[in-house]
Amino acid sequence: MSIRSRFPIFEKKTYLNSCSYGALSVDVREAYQRYLDDWNESGSDWDKWVGLYETARVSFAGLINAKPEEIAVTFCASDGVNTIASALDFSSPRNRVVVSDFEFPTTAQIWHAQEKRGADICHVPECDGRIPLEHYERVIDDRTLLVSIASVCYRNGSKQDIRPIVDLAHKNGALVMLDAYQGLGAFPIDVRALDTDFLVGGTLKYLLSSAGTAMLYVRQELIERLTPTFSGWFAQRDIDAMDIYANDPAPTARRFESGTPPVANIYAALAGVGLIQSWGVERIEKHIGELTRAIKDGVLAEGFKFATPVEDEAHGAMLAVKVADEIAIVDALAQDDIVTSSRDGNVRISPHFYNNLEDIDRLLESLRRNRQYML
Ligand SMILES: Cc1ncc(COP(=O)(O)O)c(C=O)c1O
Repeated sequence: MSIRSRFPIFEKKTYLNSCSYGALSVDVREAYQRYLDDWNESGSDWDKWVGLYETARVSFAGLINAKPEEIAVTFCASDGVNTIASALDFSSPRNRVVVSDFEFPTTAQIWHAQEKRGADICHVPECDGRIPLEHYERVIDDRTLLVSIASVCYRNGSKQDIRPIVDLAHKNGALVMLDAYQGLGAFPIDVRALDTDFLVGGTLKYLLSSAGTAMLYVRQELIERLTPTFSGWFAQRDIDAMDIYANDPAPTARRFESGTPPVANIYAALAGVGLIQSWGVERIEKHIGELTRAIKDGVLAEGFKFATPVEDEAHGAMLAVKVADEIAIVDALAQDDIVTSSRDGNVRISPHFYNNLEDIDRLLESLRRNRQYML
């Protein structure tokens, strides 16, 4: 079966919205069916289900070059940020959280929620679709407890050079939370090479699964130094202890989990991540690079303008084109069966491994015909 034919949506549509939600594969559909069949046949096969949840931990670890003990399987990226926030102490003079203006709202909102607990939130402004390192240098100092950064901005596709920001944070004694949601599955992400302390991401975009499963990475040395108040029975050293008189967190990153794992979503997550691993993330990155280059050439040739920095290394899989009316252009493209999305006054175009150059031709042709909505 060809890669393309695993995604039936392409029989009807040109799908270019993986930054929002990956397309459904026959593999993920079958995984959900398998869950229903297993449930129907066994009633409650907890041994199998807990086994799959541990397999997901191993699979997520493999994606980012972490150890399985450093991974918490969570329900959404917000859960990962919330549990870390709950374990931090904002009562000392080192109470500042530096938040990049490229953050997805959820991370920034969670950090602002910590103001009640003494956190001092400081934003790092962007300039022409980029955040220069100097902007971080201006605000990261010995009062900084944590720096919260996104690998790729969900609004404009801008990709940050993570390692220099991590080095700057560490030089000042601060921790780093990396939101890699818009990168995972689209290009290689290696927590050791990046030296980040924490990473969150989820399975529903370039990892080709569905909502309901996400991951948190916590650097090994930090795990036992952090005791989250966000907790639950699956966060305990012994899940079966059933002790209502104490909280005894696991010595691994499982201490950052909470309750019953999202069993159905884990079947799907394993199928989606399995596809990514079988294709290889380097190959995926190369293919997406060819497609984004074709989009950039076509869009610039028409005189349209990017909100995304256009150098190859300065963006992820998503490109954002400035438009006069973001709702109208997304609707007009949809009339031509081309699926995109919009944010912040731009149309977002996000190809994946299943797209091809004919998809890009169809997109460019439709943008040309709908130029009244473009800038
Ligand atoms: C960069 C980024 N972070 C986080 C999220 C979502 O977080 P959560 O899984 O908590 O809904 C998104 C989703 O669109 C995102 O693009």
